[in-house]
Amino acid sequence: MDFLEIAKRRYATKKYNAAKKISAEQIEELKQIIRLSPSSINSQPWRFTFVTNETVKKELASQSYMNEQAINDAGLLVVFSVMDNIEHFEKRNIAILPEGWITGFYEPMIKANGDAATQSWMEHQVYLSLGYFLSACASMGLDSTPMEGINRTAYKEILQQDGYAPLFAVTVGYADVSDLTHPSVSPKSRFDLEEVVKSV
Ligand SMILES: Cc1cc2nc3c(=O)[nH]c(=O)nc-3n(C[C@H](O)[C@H](O)[C@H](O)COP(=O)(O)O)c2cc1C
Repeated sequence: MDFLEIAKRRYATKKYNAAKKISAEQIEELKQIIRLSPSSINSQPWRFTFVTNETVKKELASQSYMNEQAINDAGLLVVFSVMDNIEHFEKRNIAILPEGWITGFYEPMIKANGDAATQSWMEHQVYLSLGYFLSACASMGLDSTPMEGINRTAYKEILQQDGYAPLFAVTVGYADVSDLTHPSVSPKSRFDLEEVVKSV
């Protein structure tokens, strides 16, 4: 597998082929992959909700602004949520960690900064899993779109997952041939390598 080629091919798909859906086996593989996502001190403050039920997907799509059509056309929508009760997070996820990770890192470097900073750090872990997931999709020949353009409050109400707050979503499927954002039509736009990567 040539990762550079995969990185050049992956792009935020805007238009999906509604007739070509991701298979049940691919969905199962993606579930196993996302579970293995890394996080600081293995804190795993997340939930990944795989939505294939068309009624639920349509309801979420209607709360997704400019992303509505893509969600309706793609076969899979994954909602990435963060745990939103720090007390519960500490009991379930932190208390089971090696003592040194808690007293040497979590307590002095995260918790000591207060609840808002701790919650923000938890969200960073979920965002990290997004990059991992997008790369995994591309490596499987699947197209995907990360979406912050969702109504988080409405998503929380629709999904009814106590203790978890939706942050963003990802559609997965196959791009339509007419998608004008495909890299073959719209070349990737990035700052020059020399500007963003430094060697010392
Ligand atoms: C966290 C995040 C949120 C994004 N939200 C949206 C979104 O709501 N809708 C959308 O069409 N693209 C969204 N994008 C896609 C970006 O616009 C896209 O990744 C960026 O322009 C670079 O293009 P490329 O991914 O095709 O290389 C999002 C990307 C990221 C990483």
